[in-house]
Amino acid sequence: MLVDRYGRIATDLRLSLTDRCNLRCTYCMPEEGLEWLPKPEILTNDEVVRLVRIGVERLGIREVRFTGGEPLLRRGLVDIVAECAALRPQPDLSLTTNAVGLTKTADALAAAGLHRVNGSLDTLRPDRFEALTRRNRLDDVLNGLAAADAAGLAPVKVNAVLMRDVNDDEAPDLLSWALENGYELRFIEQMPLDAQHGWNRETMVTAGDILASLQEHFELTPDDPEERGSAPAERWLVNGGPARVGIIASVTRPFCGTCDRTRLTADGQVRTCLFAREESDLRTPMRAGASDAELAERWEIAMAGKAAGHGIDDPGFLQPDRPMSSIGG
Ligand code: GTP
Ligand code: 5AD
Ligand code: SF4
Repeated sequence: MLVDRYGRIATDLRLSLTDRCNLRCTYCMPEEGLEWLPKPEILTNDEVVRLVRIGVERLGIREVRFTGGEPLLRRGLVDIVAECAALRPQPDLSLTTNAVGLTKTADALAAAGLHRVNGSLDTLRPDRFEALTRRNRLDDVLNGLAAADAAGLAPVKVNAVLMRDVNDDEAPDLLSWALENGYELRFIEQMPLDAQHGWNRETMVTAGDILASLQEHFELTPDDPEERGSAPAERWLVNGGPARVGIIASVTRPFCGTCDRTRLTADGQVRTCLFAREESDLRTPMRAGASDAELAERWEIAMAGKAAGHGIDDPGFLQPDRPMSSIGG
């Protein structure tokens, strides 16, 4: 069991499969990209599946979310999904993607045993999309989300990050669009995890700002807090429901006290938290011949040291060395 000294139990594994991406969102990475992880350091498909199996069979992992970078760029993704779906007890399998490549892969992923997809979309305006992502792929994203829905990878959730004077006027339009398409929209407060270290507390768009903007157009009622469990998103019923909108307010309404997540990077490092400053290496011992039991024990020891919270508000807070794109969001 992955339990920390505050009694939190991690049952949700977020697994980054690559640090590469085919978009260049301005709040995430520079135009030229980043220094990608060297290929030999990236876990092979067999190594990935072995660690997931250890998590499921020995450590109580019940949910596995594939992340990136952009996980659809990972060669062998469909096979990895299929092998994870064959594990028992079968974990809930989901994917967080920018949706660009979903038209081509949604059916195969569903057939392999993926259950759900969360896609990212910050703007519905083509000019803004191109300025924000530095790529002209809005139609691919819209078609990709529709393909996921059609493939039964539902409910499709859509994550949107709002930035001041960039797209913070679009919250109501995004919600109307999500309601029309039957997607569950969640707004994410921007976090200090960008590669360029450009995050600014004073200018970030807060959950309060987003609620105020939505309430000019929609009637929002808080959802039953019992329903939330350990989910990052706080939800509101829209115009009486059943449709909901969520806000992931990591900065102004942190939810670390109920965190049930453990993370593995594409190069085989356990991260206790998005904001952890230290990682625990599973790749090196695995390649040196460690047994399943030894790897499980290392994972347990790593998670025992998980910090109480992200510490964004602590004096002397330092961003982690790894950017969001390499941690997996
Ligand atoms: P479901 O609600 O189960 O569909 O998944 P999710 O919301 O956990 O997954 P998703 O990958 O869509 O996460 C959306 C965003 O929530 C991420 O990109 C992060 O910004 C944020 N998030 C997810 N997990 C954590 C976490 O442990 N801590 C913080 N601070 N933010 C998180
Ligand atoms: N803060 C909050 N969310 C972020 N994302 C990327 N960088 C940040 C950040 N600094 C979002 C993406 C995507 C999800 C995986 O994380 O927009 O929706
Ligand atoms: Fe968990 Fe860290 Fe996220 Fe807080 S910031 S919810 S502790 S992963």
